[in-house]
Amino acid sequence: MARSRTSFVCDECGATQAQWMGRCPDCGTWDSLAQFKEPLDAASEVRGGPGIASGPVGGPEATGTPACPIHEIDLTDLPRIPTSIEEVDRVLGGGFVPGSSILLGGDPGIGKSTLLMQVAGALAGAGDGVLYASSEESAAQVRMRAERLGLCGEEASSALYVLAETDLTRVLQEALRLKPRLLILDSIQMAWLGSGSNGGADRGRGSGGGTGAAAQLRRCASELSLLAKKTGMAVVIVGHVTKEGTLAGPKLLEHLVDVVLAFEGDQHHRHRILRGIKNRFGSTQEIGLFQMASDGLEPVNEQLVRLDTEAQPSPGAIIVPTLAGSRCLLAEIQGLTATGFLGSAKRRAAGVDAARLAMLIAVLEKHGGLRLADQDVFVSVAGGLRVLEPGVDLATSLAIAGAHYGRSLEPGTAVFGEVTLSGAVRPAAGAQHRVSEALRRGARRIVLPAGQAEEIDAEHRGRLHEVPRLVDALSLLEPVARQSPEGAPALQTTP
Ligand code: TYD
Ligand code: MG
Repeated sequence: MARSRTSFVCDECGATQAQWMGRCPDCGTWDSLAQFKEPLDAASEVRGGPGIASGPVGGPEATGTPACPIHEIDLTDLPRIPTSIEEVDRVLGGGFVPGSSILLGGDPGIGKSTLLMQVAGALAGAGDGVLYASSEESAAQVRMRAERLGLCGEEASSALYVLAETDLTRVLQEALRLKPRLLILDSIQMAWLGSGSNGGADRGRGSGGGTGAAAQLRRCASELSLLAKKTGMAVVIVGHVTKEGTLAGPKLLEHLVDVVLAFEGDQHHRHRILRGIKNRFGSTQEIGLFQMASDGLEPVNEQLVRLDTEAQPSPGAIIVPTLAGSRCLLAEIQGLTATGFLGSAKRRAAGVDAARLAMLIAVLEKHGGLRLADQDVFVSVAGGLRVLEPGVDLATSLAIAGAHYGRSLEPGTAVFGEVTLSGAVRPAAGAQHRVSEALRRGARRIVLPAGQAEEIDAEHRGRLHEVPRLVDALSLLEPVARQSPEGAPALQTTP
C-alpha cells in the first residue's frame, strides 16, 4: 500500500496547510482549501512496490544497488534521449533522461506547443515513440501545426501519436498502452483528474471542477512524475505562466518535477530563449536561442550577429558581452531618464534585475554625482533578452548616466564589469571569453575592470581600457550631437 501525506492546498494562492481551515491564512480567501494527497517517497515506491507497467525503470539507482566507491560508478548508466535539436539538448544537458519529468513554462502564445511538436517530430523521426496529449487543442489543430512544421512525413507519423483529451486518467491509460519514450501533456492547466485516482477528496467539487486550480495542478503533476518514474518514459508537462506571474504556473509544481525549463521572449520580437531553472541532471547555466519563423522555431547562430560600428551613437545605449553558460552574447542595454516626481519617481527594469537596478541608481547618486531622485528611470535590454549576471552592472550604470546627460560611448565600444556599493568596478568572470567574442563581432574598444587586462591575450591589450571606479567609466561618455534627419521638415507649432 503506497504511503501518502495529506495536506490542504489553497486553490487561490497555492499555500499548503497541515489541516483544513475555512479561510486560507496566507491569502485570506474563504473556502479555498482542498485536500491533497502526495505519495511519500515516490522513488522508494518505484524500487519496492509493484510498478504500473513492466517497462524499464529509469535512473541509475533502480533495484536496491549497494553503496560503492564513487570511481566505480558507471556513467554509461545514465542514458539520455537526445532530441537532435541542438539548442534543446544543450539546455537539457544532452537530452531527456528516461524516467524524468520536465516542466516547460512560458507565457501563452510564446511557442511552447511549437517547440514541443518539433521535439516530438524529431524523436519520432528517429524511431522513438512519442505521445502528444493535447488538452487545449483538438487533434486536427495539432495535426495542422505539425503539417505547418513539415513533420507529417512517413517515419515521423507512424511513431507520433496524438490524443486530444482533458481527462488525465485517459492520458495515463493511453501512455501505459502505447509505452512511448516521451509523453507530452500540453497543457496541465486544462487537464483534470477525478477524485478517485489519487484517493484525495476534491472537497465540494465535482470531479471535473476546479480545473487549473492549485490542488488539481499538483495532483496531476505528481501522477505524471510517478508515471515517469515507474515506466521509464520521459514526461514533459506544459504550464502557462498567468498574467499575475506564477500562480497557476511553474512555481507551484517546481518541487514535483526533475527539470524546470522556461521558454521566454517578447511576443513582439522573434527571438525566444529556452532556459533551465532547475535541472537535476545538468547545468542551469546554458540557454537555447531560437527565432520564430513562418515554419517553426529555428536555432539562432549568435556567432553571425555583428555589431554595427557605423551606426550613430545613441545616448543611453551600451553594448555588453554577457555570459550565458558556455556562450557569450552581445546585448544592448538601453536606459532612459525622464522628469518624474520627487519621492515617487518610477524605476522600471525589463530584462535586468529590478533590485540590482535600484542599487545601481543609488551608487550613481552617491559616487557618480547624478541626481536621479526626481527622475523616472527605465532600463531595458534590446530584443527581449534577459541578462541577470552582475557583469552587466557597469553597462547598466553607463546606460542610465548616458541617457541622463545625453552622452554616449565612442561607437564600437563594449563594456563589462561589476559595480560595488562603494562605486568601485570589480572584475567579472570570463574576461578573456568576453573580450575575444566582442572583438570578433566587430567591437573596437573594450572598457573593463582595472586589473583584468592581464588576463587577456597580449595581442588584444591595445584595445582595452581599464577603469578602477565607476566615475572613471562615466568620464568616457562623450556628448552626442543631436542631428535632425536631413530634409526632414522642422516641427511647426500652430498658434
Ligand atoms: P504556440 O506554439 O501555439 O504557443 P503556446 O503553445 O506557447 O501558446 O504558438 C505561438 C505563436 O507562434 C502563434 O501565435 C503563431 C506563431 N507561429 C509562427 O509564427 N510560426 C509557426 O510555424 C507556428 C507553428 C506558430
Ligand atoms: Mg500551446
